[in-house]
Amino acid sequence: MLLGILKESAPGETRVALLPESLKSLLAQGIAIIVEAGAGLSAGASDQAYVEAGATIAADRNSILATADLLPLVNAPTAADQARLKPGAVVIGFLKPLDAPAELAAAIARPVTLFSMELVPRISRAQSMDALSSMATVAGYKAVISAADRLPRLFPMLMTAAGTVPPARVFVIGAGVAGLQAIATGRRLGAVVEAYDVRAAAGEQVRSLGAKFLDVDLGGISAEGGGGYAAELSEEALDRGRDLITRTAAHSDVIVTTAQVPGRPAPRLIRRAAVEVMRPGSVLVDLAAPAGGNCELTKPGITQQIGGVTLLAPLNLAAEIPVHASQLYARNILNFLALIVKKGVLGVDLADEILAGACVAHEGQPVNPRVAKLLEAAKTPAK
Ligand code: NAI
Repeated sequence: MLLGILKESAPGETRVALLPESLKSLLAQGIAIIVEAGAGLSAGASDQAYVEAGATIAADRNSILATADLLPLVNAPTAADQARLKPGAVVIGFLKPLDAPAELAAAIARPVTLFSMELVPRISRAQSMDALSSMATVAGYKAVISAADRLPRLFPMLMTAAGTVPPARVFVIGAGVAGLQAIATGRRLGAVVEAYDVRAAAGEQVRSLGAKFLDVDLGGISAEGGGGYAAELSEEALDRGRDLITRTAAHSDVIVTTAQVPGRPAPRLIRRAAVEVMRPGSVLVDLAAPAGGNCELTKPGITQQIGGVTLLAPLNLAAEIPVHASQLYARNILNFLALIVKKGVLGVDLADEILAGACVAHEGQPVNPRVAKLLEAAKTPAK
């Protein structure tokens, strides 16, 4: 069996799906590994390091696409790459199957088997494969570091002979994986941190990190969706959160906002008025930018200055810490591969709950029911 490691082609992508240190257990099973030249360079892994680990380097990307049986990737392959895949191959990565299912059509038709890391079910057995959490952890950390770097103030309280400097005030919206890491990072830098999440269950975790949890009375509406995620809220319930956010923004130096509802556009929680009440020099980092953003002023991918407030809307913060992001991702991928490669033999058993959940398509047919529905809808012309 041949496993291919490609150089990621998406603009700004620096991560790689597997690092040289990840290859040992695969090679021990008799799997041959071919790496596109330069694949790991931005993540600190030279071609030489892959060779020393036991892989072969190839300059010709197309030959890897045409011959690899197993292709772990970070991002979904382009349509041109999909058309070159070996029929029957298995492709794994962040394939965005709920955002852009139709863009996978060429791969489904080859047919290849597609597994999406976003769809790995959040059950305890799959925790070691939870790449969303790995990347959210990196992004939450980097969001606070980026804000601290731009803030014209210090984060920690300092008592000096020249006087006392008060600590920065950080407000984190959405206390999921990224939000909790943002809280922890803000606290480590000495900031006073407040956080808001629509899920009451997040309160305990927020407090355990030394931050204050801001509660909103949603009037009995359940905010819990399935699998630990939030549900999509009504406008009325969202408005209660928006009011709290505007009030809290007035005394916050930094806002890191991370609120998301899987498969839906990010909830618009931060009104223009909230940005306008922030002090000049304050920083807002909208980590929900890839899903449209939590702030109504957000332009995904673009940094703006709005009345002296810096609004950052990064699309791929994990790629700004490529070494550790790749290291964590590679471990998630290796753990996932262990489900489909046993003693060097590839076998896809869709009776396994994790594989069935993560499988976008197998043998030319959509598997995950949500993806199947979206693909069906995409086929039907709008009336
Ligand atoms: P996410 O990225 O989908 O959302 C981030 C946060 O935004 C969530 O905490 C969500 O409650 C919050 N949010 C959504 N709408 C909001 C609104 N209108 N106002 C305020 N906040 C809003 O979620 P993430 O970070 O991927 O994980 C969410 C939950 O899943 C967490 O409780 C986490 O602990 C749990 N989880 C469970 C795992 C498992 O294996 N059992 C693995 C990873 C996470």
